[in-house]
Amino acid sequence: MAWSSSSFCMAVLLALAVSAQLGASDLAPDYYSSTCPNLESIGCDGSVLISSTAGNTAERDADDNKSLAPEGFNTVNAVKTAVEAACPGQVSCADILTIAARDAIALSGGPFYPVELGRLDGLSSSASSVTGQLPHPTHTINQLTAIFRAQGLTRSNMVALSAAHTVGEAHCDKFSDRLYGNPADATLNPKYAAFLRSQCPSSGSPNPTVRMDQTTPAQFDNQYYRNLQDGGGLLASDQLLHTDSRTRKDVDAWAASTAAFSRAFVDAITKLGRVGVKSGRQGNIRERCDVFN
Ligand code: HEM
Repeated sequence: MAWSSSSFCMAVLLALAVSAQLGASDLAPDYYSSTCPNLESIGCDGSVLISSTAGNTAERDADDNKSLAPEGFNTVNAVKTAVEAACPGQVSCADILTIAARDAIALSGGPFYPVELGRLDGLSSSASSVTGQLPHPTHTINQLTAIFRAQGLTRSNMVALSAAHTVGEAHCDKFSDRLYGNPADATLNPKYAAFLRSQCPSSGSPNPTVRMDQTTPAQFDNQYYRNLQDGGGLLASDQLLHTDSRTRKDVDAWAASTAAFSRAFVDAITKLGRVGVKSGRQGNIRERCDVFN
């Protein structure tokens, strides 16, 4: 599976947006062992990771791949096509996303963990159902905690999952209040703030992106937490995890130990994977991931 922070984002954040309806007792890592035994090697050639050379413009530099979000969706669609060719009608898009998230994490140096499989695809998709379900960078710790708790995730799970911001980018308008507000955000490291002002024009237009972890932007590691200790969280919601004493102890513990962070992250993302699981008549296996059957 190709690295794509967008597919990762889709997997985890869209999962959060779906309210839990079922227990996830039917999920199993070997769910497809008889119906699609080669599932995990299909389409997972990492071709989008290949850099261009003098003689070859690689997939990642194709015009269609310039914008991350379409790349993520297209990657999932391409994987689905390959999976359908090998195992027609067997594997849900929801499970492909879950595997994509796991592979994206592992390919960028994070922990590899068994994913539980056996989800069906949902039968509806409406923008309005997302309203109020997703965390926002200006939320307080209480608001953030409530959103995660509504999906059965603890405050500690939230701190662990937030480390996903060790990769990927955010648009300037998601944090420009911290730079140009009156007063500016005092929890922001002054040098980092100056750098961000240089990247993000105060006019707000255009609205470029900045890497969320300036230190190791492409590594899925615990640098995210060390950045927070140094006032280097990009979003207000990131920095809050260190400012607030209720979340700071997890930040400090996981900044100090990769092993402890990895355990906490795997535990939390496994729980996230059980959110909103559909089975029986609640779902089906889509033929294409981007359209209903
Ligand atoms: C704690 C609450 C969270 C808030 C407030 C939040 C907010 C955001 C925002 C505002 C962005 C930038 C979007 C943009 O400007 O295009 C972003 C990016 C991202 N988020 Fe979160 N997020 C949260 C939790 C999570 C979790 C739990 C995960 C995954 C486990 C995650 C994974 C990502 C990734 C990978 C990106 C980068 C996307 C890209 O590069 O295209 N976030 N998040």
